[in-house]
Amino acid sequence: MPDPNVRAALRRMFGAALGRLAADGVVAIAPEELPGLLDQVREAADARHGDYSGTMAMALAKRAGKKPRDLAAEIIRRLDVEGLFEPPGEPVGPGFINLRVRDDALARAVAAAVRDPRLGVAPVAAPQTIVLDYSSPNVAKPMHVGHIRSTVIGAALARILKFRGHRVITDNHLGDWGTQFGMILWGWKHCRDDAAFAADPTAELGRLYRLVRKVADAKPEELAADPGAAALAARHPDCGREVLLETAKLHEGDPENRALWEQFMPVCRREIERIYARLDVSFDHTLGESFYQPMLAGVVHDLEAVGLARESRGAVGVFLDGDDKPPLLVRKADGAFLYATTDLATIRWRLEHWKPDRILYVVDHRQSQHFEQVFETARRWLPNASHAALVHVAFGTVLGDDGKPFKTRAGDTVGLEALLDEGVARAFQVVTTADAERGTEMPEAERRRIAEAVGIGAIKYADLAQNRTTDYVFSFDKMLELKGNTAAYMQYAVARVEGIFAKGGVDRAQVRRECRGATLSDRRERALALALLRFAEALEDVEADERPNVLTAYLFDVAGAYSTFYDALPVLKAEGAERTARLALCDLTGQVLRRGLELLGIRVPERM
Ligand code: ARG
Repeated sequence: MPDPNVRAALRRMFGAALGRLAADGVVAIAPEELPGLLDQVREAADARHGDYSGTMAMALAKRAGKKPRDLAAEIIRRLDVEGLFEPPGEPVGPGFINLRVRDDALARAVAAAVRDPRLGVAPVAAPQTIVLDYSSPNVAKPMHVGHIRSTVIGAALARILKFRGHRVITDNHLGDWGTQFGMILWGWKHCRDDAAFAADPTAELGRLYRLVRKVADAKPEELAADPGAAALAARHPDCGREVLLETAKLHEGDPENRALWEQFMPVCRREIERIYARLDVSFDHTLGESFYQPMLAGVVHDLEAVGLARESRGAVGVFLDGDDKPPLLVRKADGAFLYATTDLATIRWRLEHWKPDRILYVVDHRQSQHFEQVFETARRWLPNASHAALVHVAFGTVLGDDGKPFKTRAGDTVGLEALLDEGVARAFQVVTTADAERGTEMPEAERRRIAEAVGIGAIKYADLAQNRTTDYVFSFDKMLELKGNTAAYMQYAVARVEGIFAKGGVDRAQVRRECRGATLSDRRERALALALLRFAEALEDVEADERPNVLTAYLFDVAGAYSTFYDALPVLKAEGAERTARLALCDLTGQVLRRGLELLGIRVPERM
């Protein structure tokens, strides 16, 4: 069977050719250079010149003392394309080696992929254990729009890495021990509403958090807008300090505060679980900051013992960049431990218990300095940390129309739940309008179901489709458009492709069985087939730099190649082997789009 990952096969062939080139003494190539050189085998920029091209001749020419074109010719002479590609011609331009997949090989690969439950995506040769730390909200305060990115990007990466064949361990590193509990504890003691707590504990804790935060911060403009908070602030001018004391008492093991914390935590957990359920997000583990508290004194002690940390003005810090630069604090002068202390304990625990090859932290880019310092400390501190890659998968900020961090009109951060509700409500309008225009008369219950998938899918997809490192503007209007690179467009594309089978009364299983790989003679068939076989490449590239937007861009390309194909060529009206081949392309398109969206965590309704 031909290797369905065409690019991987080609890289292997180039690897062999470069090996021969070095063995023949044409140019010296160190083994560790090879991956970088093979990375230069990519999709051709211009389809007229071929499907793939290799550009490494340019990089190696100088060392070989040859013109790039001549070196390219030397590589071509040693390249065995194993019947998968047309024999390569002369090098092009300054030394590009262009290759075109043979039509029969392409057709055979489609026939194989269409029957393969993995759609032609081979699992990675060397599976790794990968820990993914994502979502990780600070609980006891409502989740807001800022939590979307970590949650959605992290969950997509988890699914994709798992599908690639890695052992993935997901861990929600909850902020369940921070100062927000001081606020709730203070609020509970001074202004709780027992009846409200009995009726809806989540809402009451949320109310206490919001109220006490205002009172503690005591910003005049906030208090002016909230008479209740202002009255409380007038009675408790010392609230800010008292809140800190409540937190400190919790950390010192005060029985009353500890018991209250135990009572609040399940409520906080239920709150986030509800949102995770709507987002189809789950975790293997939820080991929050509180889990590591018993280990923190030991961490500081050990860091001191190996000489990495030392006391400075009562506090303890790790001096990474010499004595004059600010250290990474691991214990404050008042004895309190810090965010960094917990993260160091967490790394040690994860290395010990899960023995990961990689730990990925999907966290806001504003924490990059924190992670740089924590990772560097871990590498110096823990001998086994050097075997694991510690990676901060950073992302930018969600902005409003005004280009500033996304806020409500009143200037509050936007609650995540309200955001999901609004997305679904707007999607319901879109679905209902489309239904009326088409006259399909879908029952309301079905339109509501579709709206949940479309509305939440829109929010997730809009986030995933962004290059994660840039900020992006949150716009319901844009994300719910039926054209362009949106969830709705992609969901609709799946429904359209799959609709063909119902319309023609065609049994998909039979198409898969009967598809023998008839030659794809038309250039639009060919382009679609090639696009479909690049699924494996897209997933590989997502993993390479943890960017789900590579997959959204790929799926959008597939949908485009499909439209071009379907608009130009008859499918149901075609005959014989041609009909089967085209139906197979439709089937594979539907499968690839569906699987791709599933890997991103986007639900695909049966019809739209
Ligand atoms: N709770 C933190 C926050 O909301 C994020 C935690 C990320 N994970 C970690 N291991 N530090 O900012």
